[in-house]
Amino acid sequence: MKKNNFIFDLQHIWHPYESMIKPLPCYMVTEASGIHLKLQSGIKIIDGMSSWWSNIHGYNNIELNNAMKKQINKMSHIMFGGITHNPAIKLCKKLINILPKKLECIFLCDSGSVSIEVAMKMAIQYWNISKNPKKKFLTIHNGYHGDTFLAMSICDPINSMHSIYEHILPKQLFAKQPKISYHEKWNNYDIHSFIKLIVKFKSQIAAVVIEPIVQGIGGMKFYHPEYLRQVRLLCNIHHIPLIIDEIATGFGRTGKMFAYQHANIVPDILCLGKALTGGMMTLSATVTSKKIASVISNSKPYRLMHGPTFMGNPLACIAASKNISILSNNNWKKKVKKIEKYLKKKLLILSNHPRIVEIRILGSIAVIECYNFINIKLMQNFFVNHGVWIRPFKKIIYLTPPYIIKYFHLKKIIIAITHAIKNNLLFLI
Ligand SMILES: Cc1ncc(COP(=O)(O)O)c(C=O)c1O
Repeated sequence: MKKNNFIFDLQHIWHPYESMIKPLPCYMVTEASGIHLKLQSGIKIIDGMSSWWSNIHGYNNIELNNAMKKQINKMSHIMFGGITHNPAIKLCKKLINILPKKLECIFLCDSGSVSIEVAMKMAIQYWNISKNPKKKFLTIHNGYHGDTFLAMSICDPINSMHSIYEHILPKQLFAKQPKISYHEKWNNYDIHSFIKLIVKFKSQIAAVVIEPIVQGIGGMKFYHPEYLRQVRLLCNIHHIPLIIDEIATGFGRTGKMFAYQHANIVPDILCLGKALTGGMMTLSATVTSKKIASVISNSKPYRLMHGPTFMGNPLACIAASKNISILSNNNWKKKVKKIEKYLKKKLLILSNHPRIVEIRILGSIAVIECYNFINIKLMQNFFVNHGVWIRPFKKIIYLTPPYIIKYFHLKKIIIAITHAIKNNLLFLI
């Protein structure tokens, strides 16, 4: 990194979840192409993160680039209030094509967190017609749904990074975290805490919100599909809408196009983000049924009270439509399956290492949970020196690589992780 730029960044630019005064070091990336990030030094490192679950086709993808270049020459942005445009229409047609029939009303918004806000607002407005409007949300412990205020209120109140705001967040209902994992044998005891809460508070619950199968940053656990199937059933029994947060898992990451498909269910409200644009632009979507949309639209104030400036941004919509076309044409399922198989074969070998609690693999997600907290600064540097980009957190090293990753890239990543695990200096004792 050029020294003056490095100092400027350090003095003026706030990075995610960082101190402005004493941040961890940043690495200057000058280009990204395919599976590689190119650093200022000229060194290319292999991306194991897909830029936080988003860049599923690799960087600098020619089809995505060309679609966006074409669009930029026509119109990068136009307000969505009182105006519509073909990029939004094209995208929504494609979304409807890949979603269950019931999900046909689409609200385009800016980011994953905002799509959660919109979903929760939809649920609140849905119940506004009743004499006793429902205001509470039921979710599970160790979830993560974003950094805006209502989204923070349904993140884990104790373990999450948002616990410092807890005193000003609305109090929600949290069932125990599911304990039975994806591949284990199901037992009904896992859902008991959820049943107790939904039965006791059904008259107050506006909606249930849950990440499907994979709990992301709240601990990177994969729970049993039967849990989600029963959540759906309980929501049906008690007439409570089910909001599925598919922001991290959507678009093939778990081996299914959407993770809720592992449980053969259909949500009432669905939140999409991250990989929606193939990682090209920020865009999210909150999708619901005609029934919910009609209730909201037939009761005061007869509209949904949300409308961000960049709603339906044409450039982002074009990237998202192209992403869905690429997914329809390139056998992503096979690619994700191959990644999963390779990771299971080569990474699970590490499971018996005394430093490791558990290694979990589902689709193209691999999680290495360690006993000790990781020295993020040192481990990050270690990985970069070994030619790979992996960003661990707390006690977890995880991989969410682009689907185009090849075996030899994965091999290099696994070698780096193997060396890291064996290096005491990279852990806090
Ligand atoms: C499951 C889940 N929901 C919501 C969000 C928030 O999305 P965004 O960072 O785009 O606001 C994230 C982000 O990591 C996520 O993983």
